[in-house]
Amino acid sequence: MKFEKNILCIGAGYVGGPTMAMIAYKCPQYKVTVVDINPERIAQWNSSTLPIYEPGLDEIVKVTRGKNLFFSTDIEKAIRENEIIFVSVNTPTKSFGAGAGMAADLQYWEKTARQIREHSTSHKIIVEKSTFPVKTAFAMERILTSTHNGIIFDVVSNPEFLAEGTAVKDLENPDRVLIGSRETVSGLKARDELVEIFAKWVPRDRIITSNIWSSELSKLVANAFLAQRVSSINSFTPLCEKSDADIKEVARAVGMDPRVGDKFLNAGIGFGGSCFKKDILSLVYMCRQYGLDEVADYWEAVVKINEYQKERFVLNMLHAMFNTLAGKKVCLFGFAFKANTGDTRESPAIFVARRLLEEKVNLVITDPKALNNAKNDLKGFETGITFIEDPYKAASGCDAIAVVTEWDMYAGLDFEKIYDSMAKPAFIFDGRNILDHKKLYETGFNVFPTGKPALTHF
Ligand code: NAD
Ligand code: UGA
Repeated sequence: MKFEKNILCIGAGYVGGPTMAMIAYKCPQYKVTVVDINPERIAQWNSSTLPIYEPGLDEIVKVTRGKNLFFSTDIEKAIRENEIIFVSVNTPTKSFGAGAGMAADLQYWEKTARQIREHSTSHKIIVEKSTFPVKTAFAMERILTSTHNGIIFDVVSNPEFLAEGTAVKDLENPDRVLIGSRETVSGLKARDELVEIFAKWVPRDRIITSNIWSSELSKLVANAFLAQRVSSINSFTPLCEKSDADIKEVARAVGMDPRVGDKFLNAGIGFGGSCFKKDILSLVYMCRQYGLDEVADYWEAVVKINEYQKERFVLNMLHAMFNTLAGKKVCLFGFAFKANTGDTRESPAIFVARRLLEEKVNLVITDPKALNNAKNDLKGFETGITFIEDPYKAASGCDAIAVVTEWDMYAGLDFEKIYDSMAKPAFIFDGRNILDHKKLYETGFNVFPTGKPALTHF
């Protein structure tokens, strides 16, 4: 069968897989190929157990895979055969050398750019799908054209705004699709090619275009704004706990002003996920490189408040439980960085688990989707940790429960049954404010919500 367009994505991760599955789903006239250097990941994409859990993803992969969606490890062949190449490789925080712990590690995209250059035999549109520091496209263009082999490469920026757990919904019905390009004849033509793809299912007024640098920067700024909202509301939780105010009531009152808005004001244990922290640190590093220290300090504070919030959660547990946790059994309800995903990257649970182990706690971890990742994250710390999927069995015999992930199922549990099975006095620390605190207190628990006064029997 002859397809209208051949589209390739390099990087079959949380972004590459679902994004390409959606393009294949909405555009049966296009052939979409996704490649990765990790053969295990590709094998999982080709199996009945996909490498990531995302509501709705299995269904769209099932109807497209083998028809117009293909997963492969043959990167070179795929580069030769496709004209439009999305680059969706990981851009983690650099862990070595200059900028360690702050700058984005660009080695994966650099290798990809060199590979594209080496195996291209015709014109290509290279789409930056990963989140990159501003001006990355400039470096990419330099690498791609450095052999002067006459092949034209147009680099465009098309950052991804999906959130995990709602990726399919976000891709099917995005708030906006942003496409940034060079404002040259060739750059604008490449931009229009991309617009044509998304216009197959996204209303035109939600497809916005800009210059390429604005597009690269907008992605970092969007994540900085979102993370800032979480840190802003979290920054008021200790004050609420001290002053008998209730952060949920405060958030409601503040969020009803449409200039503020009511979304993303859920106070809790702190934000996790693979991107907020790394993207803000990348932004902060960039600002410092430009000598913009005041701007860097301002945004770095968003990350600092987040670290403070996680540490505060552990210290609150320690103080509430008579300043000693040694030998006590604590159950973490949830390990994923948020509900509806199995992803645990930068999950506050990792920090909390490690800190509790330092306090010599016997940990029990329960999560409906993230236990395998939790085991990997805590490799080397296995002594003193048990992993149990059933929350009732997990909580049994424990001194305390700490809610770390806001899985809906936790709010629906029978807490009387759980209370009866626990050691006394029984404690519950609600790091997500999803439980009925008054009812738990009446059941007998000593209840410690986040940003609300504690309810204790002492
Ligand atoms: P990921 O780690 O899940 O996936 C990246 C994939 O790229 C991996 O499977 C890896 O093996 C592959 N890869 C690395 N180098 C390669 C190479 N040279 N050739 C082929 N494959 C290679 O990462 P992700 O979560 O999908 O994120 C990818 C990018 O998208 C990041 O820049 C991230 O900031 C951005 N982003 C992520 C999300 C999200 O929700 N996870 C949302 C928006 C944007
Ligand atoms: C976030 C952004 O929402 C996406 O737009 C962006 O594309 C993505 O990062 C990215 O670049 O990777 P994601 O990290 O998947 O998406 O999930 P969010 O829903 O943003 O949650 C991030 C963290 O903040 C979670 O730990 C969540 O529990 C926490 N959060 C969120 C709160 O504590 N309170 C809130 O009110 C909202």
